[in-house]
Parts: sequence; C-alpha cells; structure tokens
Amino acid sequence: MVSRVIPVAPFDLVVFGATGDLARRKIFPGLFHRFEVGQMPSEARIVGVARSEMDVDAFRNLLRASLLEFADRAQNAEDRVQAFLECVSYVRVDAAGEDGWEALSKHMRKDATRAFYLSVSPSLFGDIADRLSAHGMATSESRIVVEKPFGQDLASARALNATLRRSFSEHQIYRIDHYLGKETVQNLMALRFANSLWEPLWNSTHIDHVQITVSESIGVEGRGAYYDRSGAMRDMVQNHLMQLLCLTAMEPPSKYDPDAVRNEKVKVISALQDVPQEDIVRGQYRETPGQQDSYCDHAENPDSRTESFVAMKVNVGNWRWSGTPFYLRTGKKLRARSSEIAVVFRDPPHMIFPKMEGRRGNALIIRLQPDEGITLRTTIKEPGPGGLRLAEVTLDMTFAEALAGGTDTQDAYERLIMDVIRGDQTLFMRGDEVEAAWSWADPIIAGWEASSRTPEKYDAGGSGPEDALMLLHREGRRWREIG
Ligand code: BG6
Repeated sequence: MVSRVIPVAPFDLVVFGATGDLARRKIFPGLFHRFEVGQMPSEARIVGVARSEMDVDAFRNLLRASLLEFADRAQNAEDRVQAFLECVSYVRVDAAGEDGWEALSKHMRKDATRAFYLSVSPSLFGDIADRLSAHGMATSESRIVVEKPFGQDLASARALNATLRRSFSEHQIYRIDHYLGKETVQNLMALRFANSLWEPLWNSTHIDHVQITVSESIGVEGRGAYYDRSGAMRDMVQNHLMQLLCLTAMEPPSKYDPDAVRNEKVKVISALQDVPQEDIVRGQYRETPGQQDSYCDHAENPDSRTESFVAMKVNVGNWRWSGTPFYLRTGKKLRARSSEIAVVFRDPPHMIFPKMEGRRGNALIIRLQPDEGITLRTTIKEPGPGGLRLAEVTLDMTFAEALAGGTDTQDAYERLIMDVIRGDQTLFMRGDEVEAAWSWADPIIAGWEASSRTPEKYDAGGSGPEDALMLLHREGRRWREIG
C-alpha cells in the first residue's frame, strides 16, 4: 500500500530552543522527513531561535550534524539535506529579555501561516507569548505550540493556560502530548470507530478489565533533575497513560473533529473515580549489582522518594464502564520497552467443556510499540485425538506486515507538526482537558506527599514491584508479561 502525501501550504515555523535536545533529535529531523516525502514545500521557512550568538551558516552546520545523527533519510542524501537547509534561517533572540524581537518580527512573512514552537522550559512560555504579542507577531492566524510538562499540578496548569490565553485564543494553542501522534494510538480510534465488530462488546457486560502498560527499559539517566520533581505519575500517567485510557474508554464522537473528540475525552476524565491509596503501587528501581544503576544514582536527592514506577486500578464511573476496572502500569528500567493496551473479555457465562488449566480467556491486545499491531487471543480445540481439550491461540497482525509495500511511517512529532500547519487540533490537548487530568491526579499525589510511605524498590531490568502483581492477583486477575 503506497501512502498519499498531501503537501501543506507554505508556512513560517519559528522554533524557540532551536539548539536544544528536542529540536535536534525530533523537531528538525521530523521536518526533514516531511520535506523528503514532499509534504513540506520548499517555500516553507523554518526560523531557528535561540540565545546563542551565531550566523545562519553556523546554525545550518549544527543542523546538518543533527540530521545525520537523527534523521534516517539524511544518510547519503547531501543534496536533499542542503535543499532542506536552504529553508532554514536563524535569529538570535533573548526569550526573557528585549534583544532580537524586532529582528524576528521583520523576518516573518505577512501572508504565510505562522507557527511558534516553544521547545523551551515552561517557565519561559509567558515571556515568549507576551513578547510575540507586544511585537505584533501573535496575529489571529498564528499558532503557538507548547511541550509538556504542562504544569506540575492543577494550579500551575491553570496559570499556564491563563498566561498563554493573554495573547492566543484556545484554537491557536497546540499542547503536545506526543503519544497522540503515535501511529497506533490513532489506530485505536480507527479500530474502535471504523469497525462495527467491537462496539457491541465494548462495555462492562463483555469486558472484564483493561490493562494499559507503558514499560520502558531506559532509566532516568541525564534527566534526574527534572524527573526527580515529577516522578512517573506526573511524567507519564497524568498525560500519556491518561490519553490511552481516554481513547479506549470514550464514547464514539459524532464526528472526527477536534472538539467532538476532545469533548468525549474530557467526559472520561471527569468520570474517573478517586483512587484509594490501597489501589496504587509506587516503585523505585534499585541497583542490580554489576549491571544496572539504581534510580537514586541519578536523582538530585540521593534519598529521593520519587517513584519511577506506578501501577493503579482506576474506575470509570459511567454506564459503559461501571464494574470494569482499568489497570494502569508504567515504569522505567523494566525488562523491556513495550507498550500495549490489553482488553480482556469475560468468560462465557456457561462453560460446557472441561476446565482448562491456565486459561486466560479472550483478549484483544493493541501493541503500541514496538511491532505495532493487534493480537486476538482466542480459544480453540486442541488438535488431535483423545477427547475435546481446549487450547489458546493468537491471531496476530503486525501492521508493518499487513501493509507491506510502502507505508510512510512517521514519527509522532512529524505528524503533529504537520497538523499544526494544517490547523488540525484533534491530536492536541485542550486546556480544559489538561486541567481535568490534573484535578484527578492532584489528590493522588497529595496523598503520597502526606504519607510517610516510600516507594517499593524493584530490580532494574525486572517486572516492577511485587505489590503491583498483587494488585491484580488479589482480584483473581494477572498482568500480561512485559515484553
Ligand atoms: C516522555 C517522558 O514524555 O515520554 C519520558 O518525559 C519518557 O520520561 C517518554 O521516556 C516516552 O516516550 P516514548 O515515545 O519513547 O514511549
């Protein structure tokens, strides 16, 4: 299947924090890929903005090196890299001071779509938004893109929203949660709403429980200072896992449109019930001698109580889901990098066959990464003579194989940046959505802070704390193996 690439109209994209890690690893390589497949036109202009004193050639050289390191298609494609770099310029701007703003303003075209990507610390969002406005750049057609973390709690998220809204209205604000840009995360919507097969079963009458796992094999290396103030709850659960939960649990929107989709997600978040502390397990990885470092080796505080793992049972209090728990689990330094949503169905109401030891029942597993695809676990007769015995088999589909012959695979950032240019907010978080997610997360975090309990240690390279296994065992369920 050969994918269709529809070029976007010429645009001006200003990247604040243009020499930073995210810009070098994701934003510029992503733009280069879109240029390569013909989606980004050569009349587009990308303006790198940072505080360093350098001329455009020095900036382009820096980008060239980043592309060679992080953009697959840049290898042996010097002509194309050069053509892309012709679209790139550089303006030195002091985000929190007065230098450079007039020069930036003069640099912008009046008639092109313009977007400002703030790949900088959230503490600079307000300064930048205000100055864009003061220098006449925040026109009604401009868009502003901000990265997570979007606040540390409800109060700070509200303050950030208020700051951005001084200069931009909601339809101009693009809050990135890069999980929404992942191919399979969108596939979840296609699976649910483009097929008639699942919807009749997609409720608590037929679904016993749902497991959402985002397991990482990497630790916090190099990000200890940020992570130690966030922990897995703020870094992953409040945003990425929350989005996966919403897309799994939401009602079918009336149309595929930014507000119709986001309205349904907000309803799910608002329906989440408080999570008692006994339904939550926090963990922190410890050293495996001679092999893996401990969390505290990289944390700011050597006695840190920050969690690098969270598992919890979440109940969605509405008609569709009452009685079907959602178990969320995420952690660093686990056995494998593996993310999936497992929808586990109830047993048949009456079993006419002999009991099968170890039977796990029907499940639909949506693999987000790696090897994106779906697996359907089903029960069949074990082949051969000797009476009717049951066996479990899986129907497996890996999207890469099913669509063999040329899919245009995109990194999440590539897709999201092109959506900004097209003006499509469907895959971005709305202000009220972020606030609703913090309203749910805040009491959980406050409960931890008020308690003297420390996170349970787990072995780096393992499956997480013992108590996380018990969370399901005590209810006669079990987690799927990680990896
Ligand atoms: C980021 C978190 O948002 O997502 C990181 O800050 C995490 O801690 C990352 O490692 C995971 O993203 P992905 O795309 O690798 O699953």
